[in-house]
Amino acid sequence: MPKFYITTSIPYVNAPPHMGHALEFVQADAIARWRRLQGDDVFFLTGTDEHGAKISRAAADAGKNPREFANANAKQFGDLIVKLSVSPNASIRTSDQKHHWPGAEDLWRRIAKNGDIYKGTYKGLYCVGHEAFVTEKDLKGGICEDHGKKPERIEEINYFFRLSEYGDEIKKRIETGDLEVLPEKRKNEVLAFLAEGTQDISFSRPAKDIPWGIPVPGDSSQTMYVWCDALSNYTSALGFGGSSDELFKKYWPADMHVVGKDIVRFHAVIWPAMLLSAGLPLPKRLFVHGFIHSGGKKMSKTLGNVIDPFSVLKKYGTEAVRYVLLSASVFEDNDLTPERIHKLYTAHLANGIGNLVSRIAAMAEKYFEGKIARPSDVVLAAVPFKTDIDMVGAKDRDLEIEGPAVSWFIEHKTTVRYRAAWEEYRIHDALHEVMELERMLDRYIQDYEPYKLIATDRKHAEAVLWNVLLALGAMARFLLPLLPGTAHSIAGMLGVDMDAVGANTSEYVITKTSALFPRIE
Ligand code: MSP
Repeated sequence: MPKFYITTSIPYVNAPPHMGHALEFVQADAIARWRRLQGDDVFFLTGTDEHGAKISRAAADAGKNPREFANANAKQFGDLIVKLSVSPNASIRTSDQKHHWPGAEDLWRRIAKNGDIYKGTYKGLYCVGHEAFVTEKDLKGGICEDHGKKPERIEEINYFFRLSEYGDEIKKRIETGDLEVLPEKRKNEVLAFLAEGTQDISFSRPAKDIPWGIPVPGDSSQTMYVWCDALSNYTSALGFGGSSDELFKKYWPADMHVVGKDIVRFHAVIWPAMLLSAGLPLPKRLFVHGFIHSGGKKMSKTLGNVIDPFSVLKKYGTEAVRYVLLSASVFEDNDLTPERIHKLYTAHLANGIGNLVSRIAAMAEKYFEGKIARPSDVVLAAVPFKTDIDMVGAKDRDLEIEGPAVSWFIEHKTTVRYRAAWEEYRIHDALHEVMELERMLDRYIQDYEPYKLIATDRKHAEAVLWNVLLALGAMARFLLPLLPGTAHSIAGMLGVDMDAVGANTSEYVITKTSALFPRIE
């Protein structure tokens, strides 16, 4: 059984989760579920990034100590994962001294042993208000925009990592596809960055400035900077450097790191360089998603356009939030406003899948006491999709005249396109195919009007319902990695076991279920 190790990035716990985090969780979850369905032995990791000045500062502002503060926010991330039906196999916290620290320390030691860590002087602009180094970009006319103060030019002793040694090797690995960066435009961005040459990076900070973090092995006057502290979660979570490295042996290297576009360089350059230095294999693939914007702007507290995933979940439910997030084009930025969420819910879920399922269940019950038997092939052939041939893309003359059988359409269009989308991790296109099928079914019912046909031609009315039920079974299978709850509800309505959905049933016995997506004002 092939293994598939997939991770999300680990979000900072300086604030509660927002919709961008929800996006990453749900995308990684859909991929993990898809790989499981393909028969892979999947290990899906998520976690939280809890150290650093940013978090101790946010904790101080909230009048809490960093641990209390991190615990409270980490809990919210955990709750969000559960509410979104995300299915990780493990979750790692960088403040976990038992499970994470030994792994981060071991990685540091290996890199040091390889001669890639040295002591140097870090020179930079320090803003007292930020309690951190700032760059020229944060300044206007030499003044910190946020604090209205001129930063001090200071020097401090840091450990540095010899990133400059590894730029060429990483470039080669990316060019050969050894380390795949999806999509292509992100790969090109990374290659352009590498072409300029890499410089060594600061790898630690004085412990007096960052007391909330992992002490540098052998020198507690310094704290590891974010690179070794956070990126090492992907290996420490598998027990690397700890008491048992069974999981590490089984699952490393990662098959996919799911990350946002702002942290590509960390994952495509710094992390691989650290691994090369430590003599460990590189991850195989980075999946770089776009950003969720709101009303054309970056979500931010100051602009007041942050969408709280918990309130959307409360109003619309798990499946709807997954739908909204998974229908967003994965490699692009997407705009999300409360209005758009409502529109998607109403048009695609309440009036779409939800309505189709409840209509068909009601008709099956009303006209056939919930029992729909498989019609003969001749009868089925008489009720094809009356569809625009362009939608099918078929060249077959018979199809052009009659339209395709519903089962033909599912097999030759939906399944083919759905699988092709998954091959390239275009999750939104996979979902789109399911929705296309849903729209075809709405039209199919409209074309044959089984609620009228029943009065004159019971046999063909039953065949129409049979076809829709068959298609709903296929939809349940297609939806399983995307909207698992909906998939199970549909299978429940069809009275079939999820594993057997779509198998050659001779009769459907329908159980009416409560509305999948009730209308919401
Ligand atoms: N802690 C680091 C990651 C370390 S990984 C070893 C971090 N944390 S974060 O909380 O700022 O972001 C976590 C993830 O959420 C990142 O992949 C980031 O790109 C993603 N997003 C943050 N805001 C986002 C949106 N508005 N939209 C989509 N994803 C966004 O970076």
